[in-house]
Amino acid sequence: MPRRILVTSALPYANGAIHLGHLVEYIQTDVWVRFQKMQADGDGLLNEVHYVCADDTHGTPIMLRADSEGITPEALIARVHGEHTRDFAGFHVAFDNYYTTNSAENQWFCNDIYAQLKAKDLIAARSVEQFYDPVKEMFLPDRYIKGECPKCGAKDQYGDSCEVCGSAYAPTELNNPYSVVSGAKPERRASEHFFFKLSDERCEEFLRRFTQSEGRLQPEAANKMKEWLGEAGERKLADWDISRDPPYFGFPIPGTGEKKFFYVWLDAPVGYFGSFRHYVDTKAKNINADDFLRPGGDTEMVHFIGKDILYFHALFWPAMLEHAGYRTPSRIFAHGFLTVNGEKMSKSRGTFITAESYLKQGLNPEWLRYYYAAKLNSSMEDIDLNLDDFSARVNSDLVGKYVNIASRTAGFVTKRFGGRVKAIAATGVLHSIQARSPLIREFYDAREFGKALREVMLLADEANQYVDTNKPWELAKQAGQQEYLHEVCSQALNMFRILTLYLKPVLPRLALEVERFLAIPTLQWKDLEALLPEGHAIQPYRHLMARVEPAQIAALVEANKESLQSAPAPIRHAERQQHAIATPAAPPPPQLSPAREEAENGAAIAAQITVDDFAKVDLRVARITKAEQVEGADKLVKLTLDLGGESRTVFAGIKSAYSPAQLEGRLTVVVANLAPRKMRFGLSQGMILAASGEGPGLYLISPDGGAQPGMKVK
Ligand code: MSP
Ligand code: ZN
Repeated sequence: MPRRILVTSALPYANGAIHLGHLVEYIQTDVWVRFQKMQADGDGLLNEVHYVCADDTHGTPIMLRADSEGITPEALIARVHGEHTRDFAGFHVAFDNYYTTNSAENQWFCNDIYAQLKAKDLIAARSVEQFYDPVKEMFLPDRYIKGECPKCGAKDQYGDSCEVCGSAYAPTELNNPYSVVSGAKPERRASEHFFFKLSDERCEEFLRRFTQSEGRLQPEAANKMKEWLGEAGERKLADWDISRDPPYFGFPIPGTGEKKFFYVWLDAPVGYFGSFRHYVDTKAKNINADDFLRPGGDTEMVHFIGKDILYFHALFWPAMLEHAGYRTPSRIFAHGFLTVNGEKMSKSRGTFITAESYLKQGLNPEWLRYYYAAKLNSSMEDIDLNLDDFSARVNSDLVGKYVNIASRTAGFVTKRFGGRVKAIAATGVLHSIQARSPLIREFYDAREFGKALREVMLLADEANQYVDTNKPWELAKQAGQQEYLHEVCSQALNMFRILTLYLKPVLPRLALEVERFLAIPTLQWKDLEALLPEGHAIQPYRHLMARVEPAQIAALVEANKESLQSAPAPIRHAERQQHAIATPAAPPPPQLSPAREEAENGAAIAAQITVDDFAKVDLRVARITKAEQVEGADKLVKLTLDLGGESRTVFAGIKSAYSPAQLEGRLTVVVANLAPRKMRFGLSQGMILAASGEGPGLYLISPDGGAQPGMKVK
């Protein structure tokens, strides 16, 4: 029987653009889905695969984002839905349905699940004390509270952990806390919350079975789960807070008179079901949704997620489903995080690259699909997009090896043989290309895409060697060798056809073009044994793929470079670690997040100094009140600084990185007691601080919000 699989990718938040990090996941899932859709059972019946996703639209960050844009959350999520749909289509990510969590279908499932859990006595109500913003009149998730780190005293640290010393704590432990939303000092307020009783032994017992069952989770993930669950009897799991107080953009909890809302992480995974329901109701009316959503069927449900959201998918979600009478996930596939050139994506380096900008720069989406696939495996390791390697890899594998097979042989068929191929036998190289199918299939199925593509490229090498050995360009010159020339080119085109089949999950667009060029029906895995028949006419060859030009990559990075003036990145998972003050906090999702951004590796550290040496330097916060071009200077900008009452003129060599307009009004740090220096353009009374590395790029230092001109920096 063919497999019947419901596949999901995590639902991207509806308050930000899709970027190359996200695409690791959507491309990975799409490749797997396309591969599965090409497979058939012994009778040639194709697998039935449904790939659904949606925007994750609820919660505080989206509400606040809409607020700051002066629009309704509904308007925001509608706009972002359009952007996301466009970006995914641009990368050939082919969802069968892309929906929204703000839907009637989703609400129905949330209410049903909640009612079932309640009936099983798995919902508890408890009073929780939390930070409350008296100005904005709302409870604050941890990430919206900042203050001084209780351990090291660093300022402006988030409510859950300190970015300076790395310690984790509860938001109540912060010194001098303030609301990120309004700046107000938060109050502590009590309110009633609803909890899903994850600590109930029924949940714990189920989760032990679920997370340790063979093949359900990757080995690393299963180990994480062991850690989170602890030893039997240890009762490590805490109840999960599933309610939020208004104002909240989400679904009201039934029976609370709109006084309580479902926490976004409750309705988000349920959104998989909401999207699937909508798909069945509108596009796939012949399937019975319950086959996929209720237990006992022979269908599979597979979730692709990033490792940062494993906790939600491997604990809360299955426990909820199990006790609400729904089917639980067959498999959860977690992947690692994307780094670019070995570092976390960074706006200042231009490596925080949006899907939109990649496409706008005219880069071919299949280059990225190929590169990611070549790097992906079944583990949770991070994957690196090295931009030099990217060009080299795509150019050598796709253009130099694969496309080359057709480009060097098809012309002869068109010119010499009226565009018709000759019937050939699958021997030698062609046979060995066909024979590698089971292995390649196994690799794809196991998400070992890198290994699958390595096999394909080894086969492409063999095909090229076959052409090299037989030299069609020389055969073409020899009158007696025409028959053989026809044979060689027909062999090569058959090899090309099968390699295209192998690459089709990764390169769907290119495969479509090859299908047109070879004038063959859409390739399925079962077509592997078939060969092009005698006299089969192909289309004239047109070049299938261009090379990546290094200049294109440079332009892409440049286009994504943002000055330091720009808005901060959207706060990811702002609500994820929201914990209650009065109840024992749920264990924070263990550290699975990628390493913090490393410091730029600059020159070697200078010779040691004493604290007295340092004290000689009087560093002050200064506001740039005026910034002007300097006639005739190619590096300098003339700045007028306010040092808290005192005004200074400083000439700074920052013209390459900042325009005067970007500078006016901002704060920076100045060496206030530096001897004045006479310059060609006037007297410079100090020096402002900026960071730079070996490469281009210059970054002005600025204090965190709240600092005032004249303050000492020490
Ligand atoms: N909305 C939640 C998921 C809810 S699923 C019921 C969310 N959204 S997200 O937009 O932050 O991320 C969507 C997916 O993209 C997640 O699986 C996440 O792990 C993945 N990635 C986001 N940034 C990523 C990288 N930089 N690298 C690899 N994957 C990344 O989480
Ligand atoms: Zn600290």
